[in-house]
Amino acid sequence: MVLRHQSDAVLKKVVITQPLPGEGLKTLSKQCDMVILTGPQALIEHSPEALAACHGLICLLTDNVDRRLLESMPNLQFVSSVSVGVDHIDVQALTERRIPVGHTPDVLVDSTADAAFALLLAAARRVAEGDRYIRDGHWRPETRWSPDFFLGKDVSGATLGIVGLGAIGQAVARRAAGFNMKVIGWTPSGREVPGVDSVSLDALLRRSDFVSVHLALTAQTRHLLDAQKIATMKPGAVLVNTARGGIVDETALAKSLDSGHLYAAGLDVFEREPLPMEHPLLQHPRVVLVPHIGSATTLTRARMVDIAVGNAAAALQGLPMPHCVNPEVYPLESWG
Ligand code: DGY
Repeated sequence: MVLRHQSDAVLKKVVITQPLPGEGLKTLSKQCDMVILTGPQALIEHSPEALAACHGLICLLTDNVDRRLLESMPNLQFVSSVSVGVDHIDVQALTERRIPVGHTPDVLVDSTADAAFALLLAAARRVAEGDRYIRDGHWRPETRWSPDFFLGKDVSGATLGIVGLGAIGQAVARRAAGFNMKVIGWTPSGREVPGVDSVSLDALLRRSDFVSVHLALTAQTRHLLDAQKIATMKPGAVLVNTARGGIVDETALAKSLDSGHLYAAGLDVFEREPLPMEHPLLQHPRVVLVPHIGSATTLTRARMVDIAVGNAAAALQGLPMPHCVNPEVYPLESWG
């Protein structure tokens, strides 16, 4: 779909990899010539001439904006992602070309923290397993109720270890306080957060009944929770991941669940998305799986689109993006 502004001025060309909800794109179309693609392969299948002519890109976390793609876009002046995470974008390649990359921080903090807590509770109290039990017709008079029927893990009074104490990790800590949990945390920067006891990563893994991951995926955090770190976790612990799948070695996680070392896991994100149907994690009844929906509430997604469009609008006007992951691309005097 092409939205062309009715004016003689030569407008910049902006590619959007998927239609976005709300009115933002309509407003933005007054500032540029906009091409809205559809379909998961649309960006890489877009014509080389159109990519070469493109000045701006608005993308999703499912678009692989790698060096190869970027080399086919010599006129590119900005990238704006409708996501807080930017591990799908080669930010370094863009920074080398002094091209700003926008993202959508802050607005998804509460929805993602809610999702993490939903997974924690669902995994601890076997919610998905219980749902399947009833739907599959196993709840019969002879299994109606007994003192040891469908026992789960206590949440109240348990220790929650938060890996990554940014805004989302802190929002999870606030929720945990309401559940009377003891909260300990570790973050690569060593940041101290009120109400959270800072400990080493190994101490956190040894002591926590529940571990919730809230880090960005980078070269340093890829497989941070590998086989050795998972083996360090307290026997019977539950792992929750709403950050990025690549932070956890999923094969090691599946083995640990198989061996009974870990009790359960609640996962919103995976090393490969969509999760392949033959994936070993699908074999575990105590793994609660959801399809990368941590930020999927109506309000949050609308705000994410607004911010991404706002970043693009600023870039089109030659202004610094309000939410830029590589502000060093701007001259020093433009730093607020
Ligand atoms: C993001 O924006 O990076 C989140 O993963 C979306 O849920």
